[in-house]
Amino acid sequence: MRHFLGIAGVEPSRLRALIERARDLRDEAAWCDALRHRAVALVFLEPSTRTRFSFEMACHRLGAVPLVFQPETSSATKGETVLDTVRALGAVGADALVIRCGERGLPARLAARGAMPVINAGDGVGEHPTQALLDLVTIRDHFDRFDGLTVGIVGDLAHSRVARSDAHALRVLGARVLLSSPPAMADPSLLALGCEARDTVDDVLPEADVLMMLRIQRERLGAAAAPDLHTYREGWALTEARAARLRDGAIVMHPGPVNRGVEIDDGVADGPRSVIRDQVAHGVYARMAVLLDVLHPECSA
Ligand code: NCD
Repeated sequence: MRHFLGIAGVEPSRLRALIERARDLRDEAAWCDALRHRAVALVFLEPSTRTRFSFEMACHRLGAVPLVFQPETSSATKGETVLDTVRALGAVGADALVIRCGERGLPARLAARGAMPVINAGDGVGEHPTQALLDLVTIRDHFDRFDGLTVGIVGDLAHSRVARSDAHALRVLGARVLLSSPPAMADPSLLALGCEARDTVDDVLPEADVLMMLRIQRERLGAAAAPDLHTYREGWALTEARAARLRDGAIVMHPGPVNRGVEIDDGVADGPRSVIRDQVAHGVYARMAVLLDVLHPECSA
């Protein structure tokens, strides 16, 4: 059974094939029936807009039926466990599970039960591999290569599953990754991948071909104190003045949701270097590619 649980451990050849598959699906503006009569359970236990709707759209574009689980109106409110919920969805005919949850490692544990292919749509501070895939598609569109490219990832690294998946993927594909965060929001495990740390966003700007900004993920801060916003903006916000110092041709990315005026200013988020809307659009094709990969790997649609 094929799952898509994280970028760590994915074969580079599978990653490259997924990127190219997603771009082909985008170029064809594909609507097809490759997954006709298949059902995909979308279990989102944490809030989501882009990821949830792009998976739902991806199902429709492939002819699959999305079974959208809504925790607040389901038996989860009666004390049912996630595993029992997933078993129930399998019993009604789900062929694959897409899961977003607050618990790191839960998608892998569900996959180990072996009932159906599992796709990780974000597991706590763990991974967000389909976000990495759509980010790779977006970067590939602009630069045609990863090898030798310099990508800066700036902000709340410690609580970012996006940073973890993207850093892994970019390193596997040969990019240089520069990281910068307030000291309390650093993630030393990313340095072990060969990423390089920089003190502030100003130390990343002159070298970056791609600058990826992250939100302060307040819902995951736990007992840690929220950073002082003035200090945060001084060191790690992408203002218009800073964006003007980016290299020619450099692009600005953000996984969303954006906290405007905190990590990135309006004029940058909506400015000519921003590819934030493209990222969201690519999410549909990246998720189509992953659904085909786990449910219909022989299909060349
Ligand atoms: C990210 C997430 O949920 O991890 N959002 C997303 O899926 N596009 C990043 C975030 O919440 O800041």
